Amino acid sequence: MNILGIETSCDETAAAVVADGRRVRSNVIASQIALHRAHGGVVPELAARGHVVAIVPVVEAALVEAGVGRPELDVVAVTEGPGLAGALLVGVNVAKALAYALDRPLVAVNHLEAHVYANWLALPGEQPSPPPAFPLVCLLVSGGHTELILMTDHGRYRHLGRTLDDAAGEAFDKGARLLGLGYPGGAASARAAGAGDPARFDLPRAWLGEGYDFSFSGLKTALLRLAEPYRLPAPPTPVERSSPSGPFPEHRPAVFAPGAPIADLAAAYQEAVVEVLATKTARAARAFGAKTVLLAGGVAANGVLRRRLATEVVAVCGADVPVRYPPPALCTDNAAMIAGAAAYALRRGAQAGWEVDVNPRLPLVVEEPAAVGSRPSTTG
Ligand code: KG4
Ligand code: ZN
Repeated sequence: MNILGIETSCDETAAAVVADGRRVRSNVIASQIALHRAHGGVVPELAARGHVVAIVPVVEAALVEAGVGRPELDVVAVTEGPGLAGALLVGVNVAKALAYALDRPLVAVNHLEAHVYANWLALPGEQPSPPPAFPLVCLLVSGGHTELILMTDHGRYRHLGRTLDDAAGEAFDKGARLLGLGYPGGAASARAAGAGDPARFDLPRAWLGEGYDFSFSGLKTALLRLAEPYRLPAPPTPVERSSPSGPFPEHRPAVFAPGAPIADLAAAYQEAVVEVLATKTARAARAFGAKTVLLAGGVAANGVLRRRLATEVVAVCGADVPVRYPPPALCTDNAAMIAGAAAYALRRGAQAGWEVDVNPRLPLVVEEPAAVGSRPSTTG
């Protein structure tokens, strides 16, 4: 069964063809990074217009790359939310038009669920590995979300914890901006941190007791204080110069004195984020008897997080609980994960009607807390 996936929830216009929910046949992504760089973040209005320009060529490219003609598509799947309303509208309307014209079922997919299902995918030329065993604990870390989830079966999620302020990806993006590492920040700060000594600076960890919630805003403030003495006055950005009504001094890239310990600061910051994420995830995996631990979302591309989580899970749960994460290209936003998640949603009868609308604030977890696993541990 060939599913065409379409994703336009934020700043990537993406389309992909996935066979049987697991085999990626094509995965095309048009990034809008250049469009938003001058603004230091995603501008919703620009994102929507960018999707309008890119969506048809991107869908065409996904079909060509997969070697699949329109008549061979069995299902059209699209992100309904969460995300930017105007951006989501582009994908939803293109998907509706295609499904209607081809007389195929339409499936509306939750973007967060799709990130989790990226762990079921195999890239072209690769064999799908055995599917992750339930119950599993998934740490979903993206630019907009940080959620710790217990997944007891396909489509059954229980919320364990979430961020109380910034998402983990947002923390990396803001940290990168504070350190003048450019936009987008996640990958840039990971690169800078690779050359640094994480032990040179001491940054706080927000443990928030024994629960599974997270907080990163205090850490960001602590980084700002540590970096301040090395900072030079920054010139205005091109946007500030060209737009008298819209000065965004907080978007000015930070400029540092030569020899400033940027790599060490980035490494200490990354270490502080990763340590809390990995420790709480491993603790939850043990408390809820997880048979698998999954990483998902853009921050799952972070190599230090991957290694630290693997180490923590072995230490806390033993070596027989595997830690899995998607390949980097399937961690950040893509449409293969939308098509993959749609295959499993369709098995549960989740076909959308023509009245389907975007859902910018769609949450993932709908299940009420149930008595699954033991109570959270108070040690470790
Ligand atoms: O899942 P995603 O592509 O978009 C959302 O749904 O939000 O995640 C994007 C986030 C950004 O905040 C980006 O900085 C972060 O993922 N990210 C990383 C890395 N690559 C992307 N964070 C840390 N290390 C990375 N290597
Ligand atoms: Zn995402």
